[in-house]
Parts: sequence; C-alpha cells; structure tokens
Amino acid sequence: MSQATARAHSNIALIKYWGKRRGPRNLPAVGSISVTLDALYTDTTVVFDSALDADRAELDGRPADAARLTAFLDLVRERAEIDTRASIVSANNFPTGAGLASSASGFAALALAASTAAGLELDPRELSILARQGSGSAARSIFGGFAEMYRGEQDDGSDAFAEPMLAPADWPLEIVVAVTDLAAKAVNSSIGMSHLDRRSDYYGAWVEHSEGDLAAMREAITARDLETVGALTEMSCLKLHGLMMSTRPGLIYWNPATVAAIQAVRGLRAAGIPVYFTIDAGPQVKALCAPGHGEAVARELESVPGVLETRRSALGPAARLRA
Ligand code: DP6
Repeated sequence: MSQATARAHSNIALIKYWGKRRGPRNLPAVGSISVTLDALYTDTTVVFDSALDADRAELDGRPADAARLTAFLDLVRERAEIDTRASIVSANNFPTGAGLASSASGFAALALAASTAAGLELDPRELSILARQGSGSAARSIFGGFAEMYRGEQDDGSDAFAEPMLAPADWPLEIVVAVTDLAAKAVNSSIGMSHLDRRSDYYGAWVEHSEGDLAAMREAITARDLETVGALTEMSCLKLHGLMMSTRPGLIYWNPATVAAIQAVRGLRAAGIPVYFTIDAGPQVKALCAPGHGEAVARELESVPGVLETRRSALGPAARLRA
C-alpha cells in the first residue's frame, strides 16, 4: 500500500474559462485568470491498495461516483506504470457542486495526492496539466495567489497548463462569497459547456475576444490597478452568463438573491467601497475587494434578502502535501 494526502484550495476566475476544444484531454477553448481562495479547500487522501479489485471513492463521508475518478486515476496509473486500484477519501470544507469551485480544489488535491501515492514526482507544471484533465479550472488550483491558465495550441495538451502570476502577499485582496443556495446545481460545468459551437450563436465572439480580455487583465494585475481588474472581472462574468443564457437549452444559474447581491455590490461601489462581483456556474456571488473592506462588504451582503451566509477569504496558497 502506498498513500498520500493533499490539500488544494478552490479558485475563482476573474477572466472565465468556458468552452472546450474538440477531442480528448479536456482542452480549454480559451485561457483564464483566477485567484485562489484561502478559506475554501479540499483534503484528499489516495491509497493504492493491491487488495482492492476496483477504485472506491468517498466524498464528504458518502460514497461517490467513481467513474470520472477512475478515468483520472488511469492517467496516473499509466504514467506510473502500475495497475493497482485505489481508495479516495475526500472532504470539502464548503458545499459541494454548488458553484463554489469544488471540482477545481477537488481535482487539484487529487492530482497531487494520487501522483505522489503512485510514486511520481511531478513538477507544478506537470501537476497542472494532470489536474486539467480532471477539470479545467483545477489546473489553476495547483498555484496560490493569482494564476493564469493558457489555452495552449498542441493537441496533446502539453501547453495547456496554468502558471502563477502573483503570490497572495504581492497583492492581498479579499474575497467575500455570498451563498444564495446550498443545493448542488442542476447542470454542471462540463455539461453546460459541451458542444457550444453548435449550441450558442455567441460562442464565436466569446472565443474571439478572449485573448484581448486576458491581455487587458494581465496588464491591470501587473499594475495592481483594482478599478480595471474589477471592471474586467464584472465584464467577463456578465459575458459568460450572456453566453450561458444564449445556449440551447438556455442556462440560467441565477436566482433573485444573485441579482440582489449584484446590485448590493454596485451600491457599495457607488458609496465609495472598491468591490466588484463575479459569478460562476451557480447562483453564488463572489465579491472581490481591496484589503480592509471585507468586513463591510460581508455585512452588506448578509443583509441582502435571500443571502443565506457569507464567507470571507484572503487569497490562498498553492496545493500541498499533508502529513
Ligand atoms: C464558470 O473547470 O468546472 O467556473 O473542465 O468541464 O471540469 P470542466 O469545467 P470547470 O469549469 C469552470 C467554469 C467556471 C469558470 C472558470 O472557473 O474559469
């Protein structure tokens, strides 16, 4: 038996990934830029055990569907030249599958734990490439602080990985997550973004403009220009949700509290607080704010009808092994 335990943190994209290139290996159609969150993470233990005749997985204390996980473990087994089955025990410290990026922290933690348990010593780039094949956003959760995921051009995915941009201490922004629904979402990201070239008339424009959005965001982050980072973040979010709504069948992830929280963020901004919203494939609103404003932002978002709870977070660290 050989085992390893890893912790990886969730991340939130400021410039969003949505849409895949054709073919295998989960290759993104666009690049993305994210921040890793300190407060939301997944702990995963992988044990390769020759006594097992099939992979087993448990998530938050309940048996989990092992099919997607077995496909992922097969990548690790192939590389390590082993065929031992594994048991995976994983726990999130936040609601799973509700638009809080559990697949990002989950597959990043699994990539690190499984590759280590299999005796592989992957460098961060190789880990990012591995994590991407579990979930595109997971490639970014290998790193802390700000990270950029490259779309890449190669069919083998060797240039579709993330890289760190800034460490948390370089620009210690705060995030407040306003939870408006704890249930797992009805349509997960992989299904929501499948075959978009056939399903949305807006998809070509989304892909065409992504390089420009990424370049503008890179420049704003380098300059620590929060006003521009915030404006680009809200634009990428609203463009993503416009694309989702334009998809056949139309995807609407928001609920009334999502919209109310957007308005609350804009109200705070009108009152002089530097805060900007973003939303992923779910109804939760994530507010990005300047250091020192998290408490006021959380208080305001908690007063929004339909907001169930808020979570404050600093920017978080890279994925790492645990004893
Ligand atoms: C809206 O990474 O969950 O959060 O690669 O199919 O697993 P798969 O998709 P996933 O999609 C994330 C979509 C998003 C935007 C983002 O995180 O960039």
